[in-house]
Amino acid sequence: MRYRTIGTGPHSRRVSVIALGAMLFGSVTDEKTAFTLLDRYVEAGGNFIDTSDNYAFWTDDGQGGQSEELLGRWRRSRGVGDELVFATKLGARPLAPGTSYTDNPEGLSAKVIRESSERSRERLGLERLDLLYAHIDDPTVPQRETVEAFAGLVAEGAAGLLGVSNQAVWRVERARGLAAAAGLPGYEVLQYQHSYLRPRFDVPGDLFPDGSLGHAGAELTTYLRTEPRLTLVAYSPLLGGAYAHPERLPHDYDHPGTPARLAVLRDVARETGATPGQVALAWQLGHELPVVPLAGVSSPAQLEENLAAVDLELSPEQRARMNAAY
Ligand SMILES: NC(=O)c1ccc[n+]([C@@H]2O[C@H](COP(=O)([O-])OP(=O)(O)OC[C@H]3O[C@@H](n4cnc5c(N)ncnc54)[C@H](OP(=O)(O)O)[C@@H]3O)[C@@H](O)[C@H]2O)c1
Repeated sequence: MRYRTIGTGPHSRRVSVIALGAMLFGSVTDEKTAFTLLDRYVEAGGNFIDTSDNYAFWTDDGQGGQSEELLGRWRRSRGVGDELVFATKLGARPLAPGTSYTDNPEGLSAKVIRESSERSRERLGLERLDLLYAHIDDPTVPQRETVEAFAGLVAEGAAGLLGVSNQAVWRVERARGLAAAAGLPGYEVLQYQHSYLRPRFDVPGDLFPDGSLGHAGAELTTYLRTEPRLTLVAYSPLLGGAYAHPERLPHDYDHPGTPARLAVLRDVARETGATPGQVALAWQLGHELPVVPLAGVSSPAQLEENLAAVDLELSPEQRARMNAAY
């Protein structure tokens, strides 16, 4: 395994270059399988595990929490200490069963930040959440309130690093500016969808009527380029398994650039003897920007395949060919 540093200051952490997504653990993925996957990930040197207070509410029309609870049981059963980095999120938990973050989210008020983080700590069995993200934006709450509430958790020792997901880049910069001006800790880890294939950005979604804000696009990459201490945690790097199952490609990847990039990806896969998914992960792992792929898995074989991508070196020529395709 290789490692990189996320965040700055006293709460910065060394994390494995590939993170494990626990979104479906405890719901779609049963406990025995999830424990096996977690054990193997850690055995291979992985230490960066991702969850959220709302995972996976859509699987049973509930409010989520199964993933954090499973991770808490696994931590206790294995006697896990400070060596692992648990990231969780708040803000997008539905306020009532049968609703969603699109119509009834908990949001990012000071009250929610305090109460939901407390519940996440209980479920995970952690004194301090190593990395806590704002899962979505909340335009109904003054940003200063959100910024101060997150910073309050850090001051109390209830959270370490702060992160943000699925917000417009200008909102992230504004929140970070407010924090910096007040001498408070701000978001340092940005979690967005990012993969080798590029989506259309103008396809409206449930949450984003103006087009997706969850994808890492040019706004975000230029931001990372000028703020080198930020890290991009890239969610859904395998596009939900679409590199192995092309019929799963989300509809916003249906554009002329996709076949061009897929053709090069498959060429490089043939040249290296790797799978297209491994090449996509290796492309992110060797990215000039600090990108940590955050992949979910449902079987040990998938996990082994993804872990092996850490040792897959693409040549500068292969990388240049991949970058040039669009
Ligand atoms: N911040 C956010 O809003 C947000 C949103 C989504 C996800 N996330 C985070 O990102 C993590 C990963 O996201 P994701 O699960 O949506 O996407 P992903 O990592 O791109 O896809 C994971 C799925 O791909 C398939 N897969 C994985 N490895 C494979 C392999 N080697 N060969 C073939 N298929 C493979 C599996 O599907 P099957 O089980 O069907 O085989 C697996 O469940 C989540 O666990 C969560 O922590 C965050």
